[in-house]
Amino acid sequence: MSDPPLSALAHIPGTDGWPFIGNTLQLLADPKGTAERFAKLYGPVHRSHSFGGRTVSLLGPDANEFVLMDQEKVFSSKHGWERVFELLFPGGLIMRDFDEHRLHRKALAVAFKPEPMKSYLMSLNQGIATAVAAWKNASPDFRLYPAIKKMTLDLAAVSFLGDDCGPDLDAIKQAYVDMIAACVGVVRRPIPGTQMRRGVKAREFMIKYLGGQIAARRASDGHDLFTQLCKATTDDGALLTPQEVLDHMSFLMMAAHDTLASSLTSFVYFLSVNPDWQEKLREEIRALDLVEGEPLPYERLDGLPLTEMAFNESLRLIPPAPSILRRAERDTEFAGFPIPRGTHVAINVLYTHHMPELWPEPERFDPLRFTSEAIAARHKYAFIGFGGGAHMCLGLRFAYMQAKCFAYRLLTTCVISARPNYKPDWKYWPIPMPRDGLQVKFSVPTITERGA
Ligand code: HEM
Repeated sequence: MSDPPLSALAHIPGTDGWPFIGNTLQLLADPKGTAERFAKLYGPVHRSHSFGGRTVSLLGPDANEFVLMDQEKVFSSKHGWERVFELLFPGGLIMRDFDEHRLHRKALAVAFKPEPMKSYLMSLNQGIATAVAAWKNASPDFRLYPAIKKMTLDLAAVSFLGDDCGPDLDAIKQAYVDMIAACVGVVRRPIPGTQMRRGVKAREFMIKYLGGQIAARRASDGHDLFTQLCKATTDDGALLTPQEVLDHMSFLMMAAHDTLASSLTSFVYFLSVNPDWQEKLREEIRALDLVEGEPLPYERLDGLPLTEMAFNESLRLIPPAPSILRRAERDTEFAGFPIPRGTHVAINVLYTHHMPELWPEPERFDPLRFTSEAIAARHKYAFIGFGGGAHMCLGLRFAYMQAKCFAYRLLTTCVISARPNYKPDWKYWPIPMPRDGLQVKFSVPTITERGA
């Protein structure tokens, strides 16, 4: 299906920007400011031109609900995201639609049941303890973001593949780094010398590496995510094909690693500049009454509601997936604007999460926005950090589990501080990250801070 011509979208206010590059540079430089400016200039339904195509943006919680709930089954996730993921993560869950998507999502859900989750938590506890221990003695030029990125990739590799990858671990991690970088490379074809070429090569490596292990994993009793997928079946009892296992595995590792690196970094930043909240979370952790150094048990995850609220508030302020893409497969209409078949549509997570009418004083860090009463009083689609509807993040519980395990270890062994008035500049594309790598300090808590 080809994109609708400009004449078919002329009734929607907006701009085509500069010849060829459209509005790409503005969106890259300042996605939040650009969305807010366009909303003022053209209204909450407007078109722009970026990353090689025209997109209609639908802003606000009603738009989020309309697109994500998709009652009429109009919007394709596969065709929305294919500009980004087509060559690198084809066949991932987000690249499937409607009945086929439902079937695969159900099959994959086994990997997020309590038994495998308990086993992932064991690996997380171990990996996080090792990483955090090294940060305490770091040199003054230590930067947190690269350290967290390394940690989340190590954690994803071990909890997803098991700890028997041994000598191949570094090659696997490099392959992921190359594939993720290629997703947002400017050149979209695998021409020699480009990021896309390196990404496509890395995908070939991963397919060969993982593909060679499927038979053995099907016969094993491992609890890692790869083994779970190798054994996963659809409704009719059929195993996923090797290609399907590989496609899902590749996408899951990508979906987990960068989003967690970004969100854990902003979480640490907000705790470093909000010492009162840092202390509240430390108290909540102390109230679990665990022995010093003990791994966080799966059964105690529900005992950290304030930690979950503070993590949500960081996701609100700096969402790792700042927008969500779809394509209309049939003619539809929103807020009186006809949207023709073939139109690429985007909803804007970052914009919604900063709307003052939904979030008073939107720039203020206030985890109390996530008490159950506050949630019940707000539009259901005001917070869409994990999306919503049929494609809502499948790894949401894994993400909360990792964030809690991380907070547990970090806050029981370190006090986080930042220099006065520290406010890093965030680069939002391809995924939010602090431009300076995040300069925070970890010190050993005093006896009072440890609550001893
Ligand atoms: C803080 C961390 C995370 C954030 C903010 C996040 C955010 C999101 C969002 C917004 C979507 C919906 C995209 C759409 O509707 O087009 C999504 C989908 C998805 N996420 Fe996450 N995610 C996170 C962590 C994870 C983790 C840890 C995993 C795996 C272990 C994961 C696996 C997935 C999968 C498989 C999908 C596709 C679901 C589907 O299409 O049915 N995510 N995520």
